Amino acid sequence: MLFILPILALAVGCAAAPAASGYWYESIEHNGISPTITNGKNWKVFRNVKDYGAKGDGTTDDTVAIQQAINTGDSTGTRDAGRFGSTGQPAVVYFPAGTYVVKSTIKSAIGTVIMGDPTNLPTLKAAAGFTGTTLLFGRDQRYSGLIGFFHGVKNLILDSTAVSASKTIALLEWSVSQNNQLSNVVFNMPVGAATHTGITMQGMNSGLIINDLEFRGGGVGVLLAATQYHLKSLVFKNVKTGIKISSLLQGTAQGLRFEDCSIGIDASSGSGMLSLIDSSATNTSVVITAAAMSSSSVTGSLVLENVNVDSSVAATIKTGSTTTLTGSTPPNTVWIRGNTYPASSTTPSRVDGSLLPLPRPSLLINTTSNSYPLLPPPTYASYPPSAILNVKTSSPAAAGDGVTDDTAALQAILAAAAKNNQVVYFPHGIYLLTDTLTIPPGSRLVGEAWTQLSASGAKFADAAKPRAMLRVGEAGSRGVAQLSDFIFTVADVLPGAVLVEVNMSPAEGGQAGDVGFWNCHFRVGGARGSAVRGTKCAKPEGCLAARLSAHLTEGSGSYWENVWSWVADHDLDESAGGQVYPGAAAGFLVEARRGTWILGMGVEHHVLYQVNINKAENVFIGLQEGEAAYWQGKGNTVLAPAPWTQSLLASDPDFAWCGASEVQCRMGLYQRVSNSKNISIYSSGFWNFVAGPQRQMCSDDCQDNAALYEGNEKFSVFGFSTINNKNLLVERSGQSTAVVAARAANPGSLMDGLFKTASVAGYFR
Ligand SMILES: *[C@@H]1O[C@H](CO)[C@@H](O)[C@H](O)[C@H]1NC(C)=O
Ligand SMILES: *[C@@H]1O[C@H](CO)[C@@H](O)[C@H](O)[C@H]1NC(C)=O
Ligand SMILES: *[C@@H]1O[C@H](CO)[C@@H](O)[C@H](O)[C@H]1NC(C)=O
Repeated sequence: MLFILPILALAVGCAAAPAASGYWYESIEHNGISPTITNGKNWKVFRNVKDYGAKGDGTTDDTVAIQQAINTGDSTGTRDAGRFGSTGQPAVVYFPAGTYVVKSTIKSAIGTVIMGDPTNLPTLKAAAGFTGTTLLFGRDQRYSGLIGFFHGVKNLILDSTAVSASKTIALLEWSVSQNNQLSNVVFNMPVGAATHTGITMQGMNSGLIINDLEFRGGGVGVLLAATQYHLKSLVFKNVKTGIKISSLLQGTAQGLRFEDCSIGIDASSGSGMLSLIDSSATNTSVVITAAAMSSSSVTGSLVLENVNVDSSVAATIKTGSTTTLTGSTPPNTVWIRGNTYPASSTTPSRVDGSLLPLPRPSLLINTTSNSYPLLPPPTYASYPPSAILNVKTSSPAAAGDGVTDDTAALQAILAAAAKNNQVVYFPHGIYLLTDTLTIPPGSRLVGEAWTQLSASGAKFADAAKPRAMLRVGEAGSRGVAQLSDFIFTVADVLPGAVLVEVNMSPAEGGQAGDVGFWNCHFRVGGARGSAVRGTKCAKPEGCLAARLSAHLTEGSGSYWENVWSWVADHDLDESAGGQVYPGAAAGFLVEARRGTWILGMGVEHHVLYQVNINKAENVFIGLQEGEAAYWQGKGNTVLAPAPWTQSLLASDPDFAWCGASEVQCRMGLYQRVSNSKNISIYSSGFWNFVAGPQRQMCSDDCQDNAALYEGNEKFSVFGFSTINNKNLLVERSGQSTAVVAARAANPGSLMDGLFKTASVAGYFR
């Protein structure tokens, strides 16, 4: 009998089409590789925990099996940062539907995505006798939070309901920074268990976004410690405190829902500047508890917009024991506390709870919900395995080995897939593109643990002729083009490379997200698989590594969620964190007019600017984080626009407002917005920690100007914070430049002593 049963089960499985799970990713062929390591063709990217002995039956102890699925390295044994670097060990640890009981902490590793079946979320459950204080360590403990990149947790239920309510336990440790994804996870805790926490963070972290999460029961849903965060679509049910802010300089909370909680967000200490939008609460005592603002600092600034509560909510905002706000915020208004700069003013009005009129650009709003769109990332769960096209087994096939030119093969594959309505799956690897790859309408592309698309060769080498590596649609194209889980990069120093150009917008009757990017990141150098490393890139003027990360052209309309555009400031694959100084020109150029939404974005270390919104219309940015090119500033002799002076585009800043030798003025702008209309930006967090070729620590102003604005209409900026910037907002009109918001007039108090922080709560033009 013991023999016969499994055979019978197999036979049944073969006969009746879809097997146990309906999710295509579980049953398709997995042939991802790790091209940059020895014997990387045999590296196992996909690991189904059941293949390592996990049962998922709700009773068996699966701890060892799951940990084995994570730890397995190459034929010599376990994963090893020394040999594989931090980019050479991609893994998807996959959980089919089931309940997986564990008795001690599961520890993730760099490059790993812990992922379940989205059609039937599996549960990772702490056993009644669980030892330890964390169910899942979502990051590799060998890397601290600020260099915690390349981790994922998605489509999972984490559960502590069998653990004593008096035990201290966190379901997920998530002290990470950029290029991570935490999405579609349920945190199940016993109701009333004050010492159970859903997500915990420690130390300093620079995360971008966590999204589409649900918290049930427990003491704290999210214990937040980071310089910035975008929190999107989080639901809290019966949690004592939904979000407890331990430290946060700048954040946006969008689409939060609190049901039956005591406190929604505890911002009573450690909160610099927070925006809460498109959110609601019921049967919750206080939505936000806040600290009183001191007369000498703007720490504790708040923005509320479209926050709806019912009569069961006692206070919307409570400051100490004082009720500051009750009821919902009225439509088309914004409630602000902090320093604001209303139309044409250049001195701050300090407000403590003003209600200002704020019509939202209608093109950016979902008219059914009357909020900005709240879209879960696509999983294509309704597609059968037969509707998935694997680019490595199709005909023609791509290689993804970091050596073969995959341009022609991929172009043919994309055409076929669009015609046949297939999802195109790119097993992990490096796909070299020697010329533009055009993504046609009708495309749905899915990577795996950040599949790399990498520009290579002479066509991208001319600084005077920028050329797109990926072109999403041609001018005027309309329809669907969606990409998930990729890294866009350069294989070499390529001064003409524009990594992504978006021309497409949704079709008539289509919707936000039809053209979209989820968990897609840009990386210029500092890793194996690229020549932008070592002595070749020891000086920025000798390493014009790339022209532009993304160009959203005039006719485009696109949605971006969780995107980091990173020019390397250190080498990810050298154990000592080797130095590298690529001089890549610019980050995001947004000229789009058909509706652009960018949620959870970080853009770092580009020469001319991080983000440039130029002649654009209808743009929503939920959070833009930025850091300077660290070699710029004091002691630097390559003053912006150098080393790009000879090949500036019309849209580039020329730095004419700076004196010829003003080294702290001639640094890349974080945010430039010019001649644009209907632009709403909810969080900007721009940080200077070190400056100059020696990367000296700054404790004061490293950079003169963070943002430059010119000629905009219907332009709203909420929550703009800096570290070590002399001026936050500067306006230019013709040849004259005026400081609107200086640091000295908007001082923060968090991190005082270490750095100089500042925040503006609102700026309107
Ligand atoms: C309100 O929430 C509390 C928990 O904070 C819960 O005990 C109570 O049952 C809820 N009331 C209703 C009417 O749902
Ligand atoms: C800006 O938004 C307003 C309000 O929704 C709208 O009337 C106007 O047409 C928009 N302007 C542009 C250029 O899209
Ligand atoms: C718009 O809102 C409705 C109602 O909440 C929702 O069903 C729909 O998915 C939303 N569409 C987008 C694009 O956000």
